[in-house]
Amino acid sequence: MEHRSLGTCGLGVTSIGLGCMGMSEFYGVRDDAESLATLRDAVDRHGIDFLDTADMYGMGHNEELLGRFLHEAPDRRSRVRLATKFGIRRSADESGYVRIVDTSAAYVREACEASLRRLGIETIDLYYAHRINPQVPIEETVTAMAELVRAGKVRHLGLSEVSAGTLRRAHAVHPITAVQSEYSLWTRDPEADVLPTCRELGVGFVAYSPLGRGFLTGTISSTAELPSDDFRRLSPRFQNEALAANRVLVEQVTEVANELSISPAQLAIAWVLHQAPFIVAIPGTKRRRYLADNVSAAEVRLDARTLNRLATLFPVGAARGARYPDAGMVTLNK
Ligand SMILES: NC(=O)c1ccc[n+]([C@@H]2O[C@H](COP(=O)([O-])OP(=O)(O)OC[C@H]3O[C@@H](n4cnc5c(N)ncnc54)[C@H](OP(=O)(O)O)[C@@H]3O)[C@@H](O)[C@H]2O)c1
Repeated sequence: MEHRSLGTCGLGVTSIGLGCMGMSEFYGVRDDAESLATLRDAVDRHGIDFLDTADMYGMGHNEELLGRFLHEAPDRRSRVRLATKFGIRRSADESGYVRIVDTSAAYVREACEASLRRLGIETIDLYYAHRINPQVPIEETVTAMAELVRAGKVRHLGLSEVSAGTLRRAHAVHPITAVQSEYSLWTRDPEADVLPTCRELGVGFVAYSPLGRGFLTGTISSTAELPSDDFRRLSPRFQNEALAANRVLVEQVTEVANELSISPAQLAIAWVLHQAPFIVAIPGTKRRRYLADNVSAAEVRLDARTLNRLATLFPVGAARGARYPDAGMVTLNK
């Protein structure tokens, strides 16, 4: 699979990584055996070398699962670039959508130790601040993250869902290797100023939820069919009226995919990869069959006519509904 350079700091990864979040929660029932089989297929069969997790996915379960995977074979660790995140604190008794963002220096250190322990590794390849608490100067957070680099616990630094202004301030303290934010045909927020700033500063961009949390694959037609604890039931975009309006957009994308003899998932991922050479995509799945579909997107070449057609069918702002509940929206673009 094609490799791309994330920024100018020397981190090269496959253009398609694997998002592991759904293996632990948010999108239905957990199945560790199938998740491990998916991870093995991703790395050993398809050659993916970029895995994405976070300490809060499944309250540590996701990192522990990846730790199990990394230790199954002696050469695994050396074949994988492991990215994880800190900063969103949750409590065991949470109900609904509660997010407390902690980017204090003390928490950076504490969270990193806990992630290393769960993953069973000595160094995290790419360590992101998952969200930013504006009460804590970004300089304080990045200084603490840079100390982890000096201590050999982290190789590269990243920020998730940050504003362009915060990225600039952070990058002035220590080189930022990558920004990770939601980016897909129906989430175009980074185009305004984050992507141009990444390009200018030589920072890579990791597009999360490139499949629109599964919606752009054309397989979700009603909120009712989602499991009762599925995150998407809380997302305004997936509420019935918005979903119906958004379905019209997806049906048009599906038509384009059909004409190209590719799946809608492949078209959605390929679209992301065609936006800039410093972007990589991390579609998420816990199933081998979806993984096989998604990796083939790396071979899809979209010509200018198709890209223009998609731009017309799916213009910026076309999607109906916010991408997070209110409590999530307030943590973005800080
Ligand atoms: N930084 C952040 O704040 C943040 C936020 C969200 C996600 N992320 C990261 O980004 C990764 C990817 O995002 P995501 O998982 O939210 O969304 P996504 O990749 O857009 O979509 C994942 C959903 O699509 C389904 N799916 C995957 N491939 C499919 C295919 N070929 N056909 C039909 N359905 C398919 C998956 O089903 P199954 O679950 O059944 O496999 C899952 O429900 C996550 O795993 C996580 O690592 C980061």
